[in-house]
Order: sequence, then structure tokens, then C-alpha cells
Amino acid sequence: MTSPTLFPVPEELARTAWIDEEKYESLYHLSIKDPEAFWGEQGKLVTWIKPFTKVKDVDYTGDVRIRWYYDGTLNVSANCIDRHLALRADQTAILWEGDDPKDHKHVSYSELHENVCRLANVLKKRGIKKGDRVTIYMPMIPEAAYAMLACTRIGAIHSVVFGGFSPESLVGRIQDCDSNCIITTDEGLRGGRKIPLKANVDEALTRCPSVKTCIVVKHTGGKINWVEGRDHWYHEELSQVGRDCPPVEMNAEDPLFILYTSGSTGKPKGVLHTTGGYLVYAAMTHRYVFDYHDGDIYWCTADVGWVTGHSYILYGPLANGATTVMFEGVPNYPDASRFWQVIDKHQVNTFYTAPTAIRALMREGEGPVKKTSRQSLRLLGSVGEPINPEAWLWYHRVVGDERCPIVDTWWQTETGGILISPLPGATALKPGSATKPLFGIRPEIVDANGNVLDGACEGNLCIADSWPGQMRTVYGDHKRFAATYFSAYKGKYFTGDGCRRDEDGYYWITGRVDDVINVSGHRLGTAEVESALVAHAKVAEAAVVGYPHDIKGQGIYAYVTLNAGEQPSEALRKELVNWVRKEIGPIASPDLLQFAPSLPKTRSGKIMRRILRKIAENEYGNLGDISTLADPAVVKDLIDNRMNRG
Ligand code: WTA
Repeated sequence: MTSPTLFPVPEELARTAWIDEEKYESLYHLSIKDPEAFWGEQGKLVTWIKPFTKVKDVDYTGDVRIRWYYDGTLNVSANCIDRHLALRADQTAILWEGDDPKDHKHVSYSELHENVCRLANVLKKRGIKKGDRVTIYMPMIPEAAYAMLACTRIGAIHSVVFGGFSPESLVGRIQDCDSNCIITTDEGLRGGRKIPLKANVDEALTRCPSVKTCIVVKHTGGKINWVEGRDHWYHEELSQVGRDCPPVEMNAEDPLFILYTSGSTGKPKGVLHTTGGYLVYAAMTHRYVFDYHDGDIYWCTADVGWVTGHSYILYGPLANGATTVMFEGVPNYPDASRFWQVIDKHQVNTFYTAPTAIRALMREGEGPVKKTSRQSLRLLGSVGEPINPEAWLWYHRVVGDERCPIVDTWWQTETGGILISPLPGATALKPGSATKPLFGIRPEIVDANGNVLDGACEGNLCIADSWPGQMRTVYGDHKRFAATYFSAYKGKYFTGDGCRRDEDGYYWITGRVDDVINVSGHRLGTAEVESALVAHAKVAEAAVVGYPHDIKGQGIYAYVTLNAGEQPSEALRKELVNWVRKEIGPIASPDLLQFAPSLPKTRSGKIMRRILRKIAENEYGNLGDISTLADPAVVKDLIDNRMNRG
């Protein structure tokens, strides 16, 4: 059945793509019918030191056990680098584009090999061993990729912390995994502004005695503080070691990395991914979703501090021997043409970005896009949040000249790679829909009582069976892993997202159904922002909700009750917004902050967030039943003083 808004697969793509419609249907069918056979075959996408004979061992009940390829051994850096050297030593692996349009650099596979091996030798020399946790707090420069790959070469577990996070956030993430080494940079550079990364590290490390080694990349050359014995210049260290470093043999289920992400509670959780399954899944999805072929110039605009950067700037593309573009800057610097200029400059043919960037650029009109050629483009992608049909259509028409399909890829830090997405040669598109599940993925839509719904329906999105890229545990807290993801619906992985399935079997992600919000594609827990606010001396209580925001997707709306005797003021409002910025990072700054003499609570003292969300959305006429409130009068004050009147 076709609907009027269906965008068919371009004929040429249907002919040339890895997967056309027929192949999708048959492979999908096989992958569900016989997962062992399907995933056993996909396991060949990576090179094993000792080939696996066991494919899958999964139990979603009880303690929850997830293992893939678990008797195989391999090394991730050898897969991402060494195995390509015979054929493509001189091919560009990383094409770096600086914040300043004058800066760019090609790093070939052989240069990547040398840099990664040297840094791995430095880590070894500094006593870092297999299983140790190394924190990486860096801007988007090739050394960030070297750092991640150097860890994998020696079997150290990396934990990349986004450079926009505050010293406070860094402390939490270092302490949680007890890392003993941090790799950072003097300063980052974004949109012409300097980010004081090393200064943030200095502040954080006063509270992180476990960190004995700090390796510093010189990037801007800005003046920094130095702690003798702890701090070491990256370039000096590299020059003192050899360029040979044999990759360590890792079991498929040995940890590869930890990445902290927000959930419903105040404390971000350390999502743990392991070696074999993650790499197979990243490589497979990168190849099929972006229909990656030799010679493509592929650009994902994410930051390596997020999972998208891990899977689709680094591991997926490099496992496939691709040329991956790494961009240090921002979409609107020096002006709103930057993305499109970079596409022309490097002849990018696959471009993968976030809806928030599209919406921000859309606001600048077509001019900045249309003055560039973009003839090299073949495929566009979207990730991180629902893309509204209006932004989708603009992306398709203005950026892609109606020539390029858009892959709207739905996935999560927890899933390691894309789970629901069109395949460009196989799937007709509907603007705003992530379309169909990838191979081996069994989405189920369930109602509040756990009933699995059939046909066209709407409810909560679960996944009924495992895939190799799935997270294995919450670092150091397996109980929390089982409780967070497998207790709501027995025997299923619960995603935390709401979802609709239409009559054609297309999936439409409707957004989070828990206390996670998505601000400019950045995932944040409302509880995190609340704990930052209540840490301020003048704040008694805080409740944070998301509200629809034209550019960011969701904005942050904070209700704050002050301690007795404190007076609300504009100055205090600014102070509190800055406070959150400092506690968590700029991405968490509340957009709107309302002083509330008290918050709406049930008689048992539970804050009624539903009401706060409605008021934040300016939908206060429709609050539903408020009779269970301890003091219904509170609501009138909140409405009278609401901050969103748009
Ligand atoms: C949301 C980012 C709609 C979703 C890869 C998910 C999306 C959360 C899409 C995970 C999409 C991601 N359409 N929503 N294409 N992609 N999301 O962990 O709510 O930073 O649960 O991973 O982003 O965010 P995370």
C-alpha cells in the first residue's frame, strides 16, 4: 500500500546498493527465523584471531545474560587499521576538517597505524594494562581517535567524556569507573571560541586521586597549568617510544568501552559495550544503512563524546576501511554555509547529522545552502531525535536536491548501533518515520500492561531479542542493568521510547516515555538537572521537564522552590541557570526557569510531573484530574506565572 507521502527508492540505488527490497525481505526473514545462522555469517565482517564457534548465548530473564561470538578472539584496532594496510595504506582513513576553514588534514591508514601504535606504547610505558579504564576528554581532533584506538590495541577500556561536560561531570565519570589515566588537550576550539579542557581536567583531578597519568595534546598552544609527575605532553611521549605495538588478543566479550549516558535517576550510568559483537554490529550497520562502498567519502557530524561518534565516526567506518570525515567545528561558523562548503571541499557523498542542526540551518533560509554545489552528495542521514516532517522535507529538497534518500536512523547508546532505519536501496521513505527494523531486530510495541500489540498501533517500544551490538551491563552495577531495561516488560528489552506502527508496518518514534529529555539531540535526565539545582544553597526543591522547542526539539523547563527567606529575582534566575551550566555543562542550561512557591504534589508527596509538563507546554487548559493533589491551589500560581506563553 502506498501513501501520498511515500518517497520511492531511486532506481539506480535499487540496482547498485548492497541491499534491495527483495534482499531486505529475505534476509530479514532469515535473520529472525535463524539468528544463529544469520549472525554467524555477519560475524565474518570482522577478522578474528581465533574464529568463534559459538554465536549467541542470551537470556533476558533473571540476572540477564548477553554473550555473542563468545569463544572468538580479536582486536578492534587491528580490525580498524592493520587489516587494511595491505590494500589501502595510503588511503585517507581520517579526513580532519578544523574549526578554522583553513585547517584540514588527511591521515592515511598507515599514519593512523603509526600514531595508534606509538600512543599504545606510551600507555604501556605509563603502566596502563588490559582492563584498565582510560578517560578521554578531547575535542574533535585526530588524536581523539588515536586515543580510543590505542586503548583498544592494548585492551584498556576507554571512557570518552564529551568535551562540553563540566569538571563536576568529569569527576563523576572518572570516579565511577575508577580510571587511572586521562588523555586530554590544552584547549578545544569550537566556533572560534576556546574550551579550557586541561583547566577543567585540573579542577576535576583534585578530586580523583585514582588518576596517576594525564597525557596532554598540544592543540591551540594556549597557556595551561602543569602538574609535574602527573602531566605529560603527548608529542614528547610519542617521540620516545617505538612504532611497533602488537595488538592484544581480546575475547569477544572483553569490555571495549564505557560510555556514560543519562537515565531516569540523577546519576548517569556507564553503558558497557564489549569487543566482538559491538564491532560486528557497527561494521554491518555502517555498511548497509549508509550503503557504504569503497571510495565513498563519509561524514558523520557527531562528536566522539557521544555514541554516534563511537559507532559511526570511528568503529563502523574504520572497520569497513572507509574515509571518515572528522569535523572540529560547528554548523554556523564562520557562517551558515559551513556544512555545505565542507561537503564541496572534500567531495563528501554520505552526510549524517542531527535534526537540531537541520532545523537551525533551515531558519537561515535556502541561500546559504544553494550557493554551494553539493553535487557529490548521494545519501543523507539523521540521528538522535525524531525529525519532524517539515525539517525532513527541507533536508530532502534543499540540501539533497530531491536526489538523495534520507536514512532516519533510530538507536541508542545502549543499542551500540542503528536498530530501525531505512536501507537506501530497499526502503521507500516516509518523512518522519524511521521506517523498518534492521536485520535481526524484533521491535514490539506494548501497552502499559505489557500486552504486545498487533498491526497499526501505538505504545512503548521494546525489542524482543538480542543483537550483537547490545550493551552488556551497566559498569559496576549489573542489577541496575537488569532493573532498568528488563524489568518493565518481562523477557524484553525496554527502550524507554514511545512508538507508533502504521498500516504499512513503518515505525514512528514518538519520543521518550521516561524522565529522559532530548535537547538538541543530547540526552539528559531531568533528575540530573534537578540534583544540580538543589545543590545550590538557595534552592529547596526543583522539578525539571522538557517542552517543545523549535530548534532544540526539546527545551529544559525548571520549576524551582527557594528556601524560606530567599527572594526570587532576575539576578537569581541567571545565577541558577549559570549554576547548572557549571555543574553539568552548557547543554544542560535551563531555557526557562520558573520560581514556584510550591510544587504540585500528591498527598503522599510525589511531584505530579504530568501537570508540570502541561504547564511547560502552555497547555494548561487541559490538566486532567487534579483532585488527587494535596493542595490544588498551587496549580493556579504555576499557571499565572508560567514562562512559556508561546
Ligand atoms: C532518541 C543516540 C527518533 C530516542 C543515537 C532514543 C531518536 C534516544 C532517533 C537515544 C531517531 C535517537 N528518531 N528518536 N532517529 N535517534 N532518538 O543514547 O529517544 O544519545 O531513545 O543515542 O534518542 O539517545 P542516545
